[in-house]
Amino acid sequence: MLKLVAIILAAGQGTRMKSSISKMLHPLAGRPLIYYSVRAALDAGASDVVVVVGRAAKEVETYLAATFGNAVRTASQAEQRGTGHAAAMAMPVLGNAETTLILYGDTPLLEVSDLKALATALEGHPEASLAFVTCVLGDPTGYGRVLRDDKGRVLAIREQRDLRDEKERAITEVNPGVYAARLPFLRDALSQLTPNNAQNELYLTDVVEAAGKKGGAIALPTEPTSLAGVNDRAQLAAAEAAMHRRIAERLARAGVTVHGDPRIDETVEVAPDATIHSGVALRGKTIVETGATIDTGSVITDSIIETGATILPYSVITSSRVGPRAHIGPFAHLRPESDIGEEAHVGNFVETKKTVMHARAKANHLAYLGDGEVGEAANVGAGTIFCNYDGFNKHKTTLGRGVFIGSDSQLVAPVTVGDGAFVATGTTVTQDVPADALAIGRARQENKLGYAPKLRARLGERSKAKK
Ligand code: UD1
Ligand code: CA
Repeated sequence: MLKLVAIILAAGQGTRMKSSISKMLHPLAGRPLIYYSVRAALDAGASDVVVVVGRAAKEVETYLAATFGNAVRTASQAEQRGTGHAAAMAMPVLGNAETTLILYGDTPLLEVSDLKALATALEGHPEASLAFVTCVLGDPTGYGRVLRDDKGRVLAIREQRDLRDEKERAITEVNPGVYAARLPFLRDALSQLTPNNAQNELYLTDVVEAAGKKGGAIALPTEPTSLAGVNDRAQLAAAEAAMHRRIAERLARAGVTVHGDPRIDETVEVAPDATIHSGVALRGKTIVETGATIDTGSVITDSIIETGATILPYSVITSSRVGPRAHIGPFAHLRPESDIGEEAHVGNFVETKKTVMHARAKANHLAYLGDGEVGEAANVGAGTIFCNYDGFNKHKTTLGRGVFIGSDSQLVAPVTVGDGAFVATGTTVTQDVPADALAIGRARQENKLGYAPKLRARLGERSKAKK
């Protein structure tokens, strides 16, 4: 293949986003919008990628450097005078090569195969100066239209605002904005652009007309699904939904069972033979290992769900680990640094935070376990609270192996319950409990025989007297 480099235009104001942040940094399926064009250019084999930055240049540059390191460089377009002007700004910076890709930073769904096809097309047609992708849309509103002569040769691209007559307005073949050009031709064509259009800008699209006059512009028709541009937040939402569908489909082909429409971000890894149900959101650096099941409505961020674990519906898990064959939920909340061991159970309405549950430990119902350690096979009863916070500092609760905590107990941290100890229901534990001891701390119960009818009579008279 001919040596390939790439220019990515990302300097625009993004006015239609109506946003205080750069369009390029709006998240789509867990990555900033700009990520996708850069990734595609690198995956297509570009040896040098120059991103043209303008609005929020610092933030975009910082992101690119952190994500792609030396693989990506930037050029600055201080004043946004159009896509052709932006591409010209990349020229002095761009490495030498036969061919350059030119992409927009706002077309996240573009496919590497399309980019490779463009480079191959130029290679096969030495006379042509440029190749670009086209597609036919039912509603072409907003896109540049492809003008052809009666032999079907590409003449030019006409922007929506510059359409001249009904015939041009009826054209449904559009320019998605994905190009490959010979570098010497492009340098020359960019230097000759004029702002002769409705927006008084230098249009990159005018180089297509120049190519048509000089050797030819090759149009490669493709599927419209991969080429949507993101100009406003409705298009952002639509592109994100399409990206989520694409990710779910890719995982399904790789052996993941997918039910309905989970939202799995681009940053997430899911192993074959995992099962992901409808309405699940997997975000950040989440990893789901083989045989794990994530049921409906669960939201998992930056967490690892290990082999064979089951996350029942509507659980929320953040920055935590769920060990092999553990059961979580339904309606459980694992807050950051929860570490749930092998075959442990965290049931409904249980919240953990920075708590380690060792293997086979259980907390099945209604509990708050903050800053704790729960020993192997320990059982924490319903309504248990780890009182970890005194208003100033957080303290730790440690339960040993095989400990049993009766329902509705409070453990006032810092406190330790030794291996095998038993805490009676309703106890407020304020002192350490030695191993194998029984801790019981509650008022003794008294039964007054036959007292209930008397009590009722007395209460009844009192209420009559009031009326
Ligand atoms: C552009 C194309 C249009 C195509 C559509 C596909 C032009 C003139 N028009 O229109 O034919 O159908 O994309 O989505 O190219 N940018 C800069 N500097 C600028 C202006 C823009 O870097 O001065 C960048 C933007 O950040 C953006 C990209 O170029 O990533 C495209 O700009 P945008 O204004 O979105 O162009 P469209 O109107 O969508
Ligand atoms: Ca656009």
